[in-house]
Amino acid sequence: MAGRVLTSLLVLGTALSGCASWEPEVVFPENYRSTYKKVASCTKSAHPAANYIETWISPDGSDAWSALAVQLAAGDTETTAVLPEGMVIVKVQYDDSKCQTLANYTAMKKLAVGAAPDVGDWNWQFVDENGECNDCASGASCAGCHKSCGPAPLMCSHPKK
Ligand code: HEC
Repeated sequence: MAGRVLTSLLVLGTALSGCASWEPEVVFPENYRSTYKKVASCTKSAHPAANYIETWISPDGSDAWSALAVQLAAGDTETTAVLPEGMVIVKVQYDDSKCQTLANYTAMKKLAVGAAPDVGDWNWQFVDENGECNDCASGASCAGCHKSCGPAPLMCSHPKK
């Protein structure tokens, strides 16, 4: 018990004094695990450069995500759902099949209609495991592949009920 407490304190100390800092332009918060909703648990990614992934959404997107899941479950694959401005989707990418070794994050934030029509009115980000931007305005490099995905504009996940 004492050992575990000590370990916890050491981990906390390392976190507090950590050299890396979460960059302000990253569209999701560092504490997303307690503030966002997990919509897909650890699964194998269909992305060629990812291994295993979890998907999380911001709470303001929860209703739209559920509505989309209902439409898809009803067989409506032609749906052109509009997701709310400000909604964020985070794909957490891991090296291992148990989703224990974090590799990095990709994230999408829904912008105002017409703000970035070439890239589906999303802000696209590739963020490293410490919350630093690898490329926080990735745009076309991401949207190009996502254009072939469904069901919502430029979204590749298929929400489930
Ligand atoms: C080669 C195709 C491809 C490229 C390039 C790509 N993605 Fe994706 N993305 C996918 C696929 C497929 C999924 C579905 C989940 C999975 O299997 O990994 C996905 C899912 C996502 C999700 C979860 C929400 C959703 O749309 O399903 C986010 C967020 C995301 N990608 C962000 C990005 C960002 C940011 C970039 C660029 C840095 C990017 N993606 C580049 C194929 C791609």
